[in-house]
Amino acid sequence: VMFIFVCVSRKLLEYECISLYLTDRRKNEPPLDNGWIPWLGHAMEFKKDAAKFLARMKEKHGDIFTVRVAGLRVTVLLDPNSFDNVLNDRDSFDYINIRNLVTQKVFSLQLGSIEPTSERMAQHFQGHSLSSLSSCMKTHLQNLLLHCHNGSTPSEWKQDGLFDLCYSLLFKAGYLTLFEKDNAEAVYKEFRKFDNLLTKLARGSLSREESKIASCSRERLWELLSPHQLRGGSESRTWQQRYCDILQQEGIDADMQKKALLLQLWTTQCNAGPTAFWLLGFLLTHPEAMEAVKSEIRGLSTLRDTSFQHPQINPLEAHSTPVFDSVLSETLRLTAAVMIRREVVQHKILHMVNGQKYHLRQGDIVCMFPFLSPQMDPKIHQEPQSFKYDRFLNEDMRVKDTFYKNGKRLKYYTMPWGAGNNSCIGKAFAVTTLKQFVFLALTHLDLELYDPKAKLPPVNPSRYGFGMLQPEGDLQVRYRQKRAA
Ligand code: HEM
Repeated sequence: VMFIFVCVSRKLLEYECISLYLTDRRKNEPPLDNGWIPWLGHAMEFKKDAAKFLARMKEKHGDIFTVRVAGLRVTVLLDPNSFDNVLNDRDSFDYINIRNLVTQKVFSLQLGSIEPTSERMAQHFQGHSLSSLSSCMKTHLQNLLLHCHNGSTPSEWKQDGLFDLCYSLLFKAGYLTLFEKDNAEAVYKEFRKFDNLLTKLARGSLSREESKIASCSRERLWELLSPHQLRGGSESRTWQQRYCDILQQEGIDADMQKKALLLQLWTTQCNAGPTAFWLLGFLLTHPEAMEAVKSEIRGLSTLRDTSFQHPQINPLEAHSTPVFDSVLSETLRLTAAVMIRREVVQHKILHMVNGQKYHLRQGDIVCMFPFLSPQMDPKIHQEPQSFKYDRFLNEDMRVKDTFYKNGKRLKYYTMPWGAGNNSCIGKAFAVTTLKQFVFLALTHLDLELYDPKAKLPPVNPSRYGFGMLQPEGDLQVRYRQKRAA
C-alpha cells in the first residue's frame, strides 16, 4: 500500500512539475503564455512586430496577460482604466533600472540612480520660455521652408518624399532653436543614419557591419553636439546648456554629459518630423479633411485682417483651432506608439478597475502599450483603423474628450504623450510647432500628391514601442511656393 501511495504521489508530483513547467502559473496570476521556444519564448515575434503580436495575445487572453520574452516575464496591461494603479505606485514599480538599460544600450550612457530630469527641465517649455522658443522656432521654420530653393526658382515645382521633407525641416528648425549651433545639416544627416539603426541597437540585433556604422555615427554625433563647439558666451544659457548644468549638479562627469546630449537630441527631435509627415499625409489622402483644415485657416486670416486692436497677436495663438486639433489628435492616435515599462520591485497585488486582482511577481516587467488600448481599441474608438478627422470634435465644434471603455469614462483615451515618468515635457511646444509648420505649408505652398491616387505607405513594424512610428518607404509629393496674391 505504501509503495502504491509513493508511486501515485510521485506520478502526481511529476504531473505537477510538468504542468508547472508548461504553464508555470501560480494562483491569481494573469494568464501566462510561454510560447514554444524555451527561454526565448515570444522574443522573435515581439521584436518583429510588437503591435501584431500583442494584438494576437489580447485576442487570446484579454486585457492582462504575461508573456515570456527572452527569459523575462512581461505582464502586459491593456486596460487604460487600470494604468494609474501602476503609474502612481512608485514603491512597487521602478522606472529607473529599465531606463538605464535602454540608455546604456542605445546611447552608451550611464545615468546611475539620478531621478528623471524632466521636472527640472519642464519649466523651459512653459510660460515665457515657451513663447520665446515658439517664436524662434517659427522664424527658423519660415526661413527653411520659404527661403531654401536648392537653386531652383520659388515658383518652380519640386518633387520630394514627404517624410524626408518633413523630418529634415522640423529637425533642422528644432535643432537651431534648442541647440543654437550652426551645424544643423551635418547633424541631421548623421542623426538619420543613427535613427535608422536605433531600434536594432536597442534590441541588440545589429549585424557586425551595422554595429560599426551605429558606433561611428554615435561618436560623430557626440562630437558634433559637444559643447566646446558652441557659439556664444556663458551668460546666455541655451536649453541644452541648462541640461548639462543639471547633470553637473547631479555629479555626472563631462564624458557622460557629452553622451547625454545625444539622448536629448533624440528625445526632442525624433517625434515632430514623423508626426508632421503623417499629418500632412492624412490630409493629402483625405480631401474632406484637407478642406476642413483649409477652411479653418481661411477663417483665421479673416480674423487677423479684422483684428485691428491686437495686430501683433499671432492668430494661431490667439484663436482656437478645433479642426486642426482634432486632426492632430487623430493622427497621433494612429501613429504614436510609446511603450511604458516598469519593473516590479516588490510582490504586488494589482487591482483592476473591474474588481479583479492579480498577483505580480517581484522581478517581472509590466508593460503598457497605449497604441493597442486605448488608441486602436474597437471598444473605445469605432473603426479604429480609419482616419476620421473629426473624431475628436463635438457637434458644437468643441474638443471631444468623453470616451468610454466597458461603460466607464476614460481618463486615457489616447496617449501619444506618454504618462507618469514617461511623459512628454515638450508637448505644448510640439503642438505649437506642428501647427506653425502645417499652417505655413498650407498657406505658402502649393502642395500635392505626385501621383493623385497614391496611398500612405505602411508603417515600419520595427518601430512599435519607440515613440512616433515611421513609414516603410515614402509618399512622393510636389510643391512650389504660392504666387503672392
Ligand atoms: C508630436 C511630437 C511628440 C510626441 C508624440 C512626443 C512624445 C513623447 C513621449 C511619449 C515621451 C516619453 C518617452 C519615454 O519616456 O518613453 C516624451 C519625452 C520627452 N519629450 Fe516628447 N514628444 C514630441 C515632441 C517633443 C518635442 C518637440 C520636444 C522638445 C523640443 C519634446 C521633449 C521631450 C523631452 C525632453 C522628453 C523627455 C522627458 C524626460 O526627461 O523624461 N518632445 N515625448
